[in-house]
Amino acid sequence: MKRGVWATRLGFYLAAIGSAFGLGNVWRFPYVVAENGGGAFVLLYLFLVFLIGMPLLVGELLLGKVERKSIFSAMRALSQRSSSLSLNQDFKSKIRQRIQSVLPGIGLFSVFVCTLILAYYAVISGWVLHHLVQMVLTYFSGDLFEGYNILEKLLQSAWMQIFYTAVHLGLVTFIVARDIEQGLERFLGFMMPIFIVLLLVLAGRSMSLESAPEALRFLFYPDFSKLKASSLGQALGHLFFTLSIGFGAMVTFGSYLREKAYLPMAGFRVATVDSMISLFAGIIIFPLVLAGAQAVHGPELLFQAVPVLISRVEGGVLYGIGFFLSLYLAALGASMGLLETISANFRDVYRWKRTKAVGIAAVLCFILAIFPALSSNLLRDVQIGSMGILEILDSVIINWLLPIAALLGSQVVLYFISEKVKLEQFEDHENQAPRRMYSHWRLVLKWIVTPLILVALVLESLEVFGVL
Ligand code: PHE
Repeated sequence: MKRGVWATRLGFYLAAIGSAFGLGNVWRFPYVVAENGGGAFVLLYLFLVFLIGMPLLVGELLLGKVERKSIFSAMRALSQRSSSLSLNQDFKSKIRQRIQSVLPGIGLFSVFVCTLILAYYAVISGWVLHHLVQMVLTYFSGDLFEGYNILEKLLQSAWMQIFYTAVHLGLVTFIVARDIEQGLERFLGFMMPIFIVLLLVLAGRSMSLESAPEALRFLFYPDFSKLKASSLGQALGHLFFTLSIGFGAMVTFGSYLREKAYLPMAGFRVATVDSMISLFAGIIIFPLVLAGAQAVHGPELLFQAVPVLISRVEGGVLYGIGFFLSLYLAALGASMGLLETISANFRDVYRWKRTKAVGIAAVLCFILAIFPALSSNLLRDVQIGSMGILEILDSVIINWLLPIAALLGSQVVLYFISEKVKLEQFEDHENQAPRRMYSHWRLVLKWIVTPLILVALVLESLEVFGVL
């Protein structure tokens, strides 16, 4: 079966950045920052993006590019390959065979995490879509804006939540069912520029509010005493989520890369653009949060902060439309990346046609999405501590499953792909010292990324068990 490749280099960037950039940057980043006390967390986060995120991104792209498969099949291929070819000599052969036999399980785990995330992502995308629709209706009816409880009404209605989730998944399915060039590439090429312009305009608007200096201080002035034991894990979890690491998404995108593509640069660009977008989102949101009457926090933060802007500035509803439109487009791009990843695995394993694979993946996600969609209404009483289904999913998947998936994936790249094959991926005519670059990358992956993820998981466990 011939594998599609990106028609242009830009095509890859648009898809990788388009999938990295999503609700994670605009909806989740601000509330995680707020929960972890502001500036110090932002600094920690940015530092980790480059120290941990970038090498992992390169690792995932590399796995996809050398195997030309999506994650599950790539892992299966590595597991079947004769061990002498793909392993370090220092691995004891028995243990090595054992470990090798569980590689497909690691791939499966990533696909499972991806499916769970799309289910909950679709619900939040539905929230965004609902806000967009309400803004457009307000604009055309000429009514005064009274949007503070748009989210509340939606959360109370099981049917509306399911309806919006279904519309969103339907749209994503429709676009992804066409193939990568026509679907992903064209769509993202068209949406990204609009988005960047809108983001800049909105940041300018927020900065004109009186609360702007205080917001900037909160966002950029580091007070390290505000960090918690779980902050490291939360920063890591969030950066995996927002850079799309641990889902197998970048493995899939890497598998469509052309032979000549230079991976370290790709990783650097994706990480940089994605973090800049998150910072912009913070610059837009925090002045609004501080200008609002009541303190807001948690997943609802964004949806309660933005109406403040709408009601305060002239022509606010139009800004509201712009904001939710761009956010929705971002959510759509990210959801497309997720669905593409899940369905690419089905296609590789079962040899299904694209439409069938995409359709089945979408139905699966929709069924799973029913639970988070009902978490604020029919299933409101299903709680652990004070967390409902949606918050539990968010916290379990992002703070635990993703770091574990990223950790396992990175070990496979480290130990199950031969040194020679990896080194080749660092060769490039623009790059004079591939060997040095390669050994830095390997060193960081082995001695910094791996222990740090382990420490984060331990700290989080200690906090959960009340030790810290
Ligand atoms: N990175 C996306 C976000 O920040 C989420 C995502 C993860 C999208 C994995 C595609 C693949 O919203």
